[in-house]
Amino acid sequence: MKRVIIREDPREVSVYIADYIISRIKAFNPTPEQPFVLGVPTGSSPELIYKILVQRHRAGEISFKNVVTFNMDEYVGLPRDHPESYHSFMYKHFFSHVDIPPQNINILDGTATDLVAECASFEARIARYGGIELFLGGVGPDGHIAFNEPGSSLSSRTRVKTLAYDTILANSRFFGGDTGKVPRMAMTVGIQTIMDSREVVIVATGAHKAFAVQKGLEDGVNHMWTLSALQLHQHPLVVCDRDATLELKVKTVRYFESIEQAGTDARTQGPALVYRPRTYVPAPLPTKTPKSQQPTPDGTPERVPKDLRINTELQRRALDEDELTPDSMSSRLVDSAIGGIDGALKSDLIFDRMGTRITTL
Ligand code: GLP
Repeated sequence: MKRVIIREDPREVSVYIADYIISRIKAFNPTPEQPFVLGVPTGSSPELIYKILVQRHRAGEISFKNVVTFNMDEYVGLPRDHPESYHSFMYKHFFSHVDIPPQNINILDGTATDLVAECASFEARIARYGGIELFLGGVGPDGHIAFNEPGSSLSSRTRVKTLAYDTILANSRFFGGDTGKVPRMAMTVGIQTIMDSREVVIVATGAHKAFAVQKGLEDGVNHMWTLSALQLHQHPLVVCDRDATLELKVKTVRYFESIEQAGTDARTQGPALVYRPRTYVPAPLPTKTPKSQQPTPDGTPERVPKDLRINTELQRRALDEDELTPDSMSSRLVDSAIGGIDGALKSDLIFDRMGTRITTL
């Protein structure tokens, strides 16, 4: 991972990220014709970031008038006005308090009759804006980004996903602790959608994120910890609090701290902000069988122009193609923070994290 910033607690992390976003928007100097396209997450971790952004907006430091947002994900089946829909979350914590025009807000509709078309239209809207400039994201305890659960294709785009048990359990806190009330499916941007943005900023706070951070930063790129895909991104920035680094090697922590101390402040090290003209207009969505799959009069399949292939994956039935997700990543990690769930069932196991490491050295 190219840039990792470590701060003492969630407040310092949030201040850092809010500062970072503000400086990126200001440097971009967006206009109605050339808006700044921001990818945004939900969850507990970004709440404080939004609060600070709202405060800074009220203080007259930043305007979101020329900012266009795309939300990462949304539960399937929850109407917009459901208190736990991501739509409600975003208005409650951010949109209602800043000057962003409603037409600049893009959130997947979890109640769309055609979920596949909704996902395709979302990707098309991103493409029409020339892509996302900065994608802010959180990370799940099982290492997922957006709702790209363990086992997600690293080349995935916006689609419907079945939620992993760990995520249902983690998110049940918003549904009165009742896992039965948590939707089983969600629509989410894909890993490739995130990878296509010019810059990705990840917030990770708390000891329950420590394993995800360790797997994402220190292990290789793999689809079971989708955060790790960002190792292939040109401009990733992970901002952690001290607790989220608990499973990292001391050497890793010191390495990233030394980079920051050397004076390469990430806030001045982002990619060059270049407005990408809206040259690409995605193909219209098919209403029936895609024309390319219908036989031509002489029986030979019609050739698809190369530049229209971007939507091919989206035209398939996302529900039919839903990737398999394991029941519980935590069951693989007997000594993980989230492993406590399973650990409770395995009372004969004694967790000794450092001891475990010594025997494996
Ligand atoms: C959900 C969201 C993710 C988010 C994750 C972590 O599963 N779909 O986008 O990153 O939760 O949320 P929290 O910040 O509440 O731990």
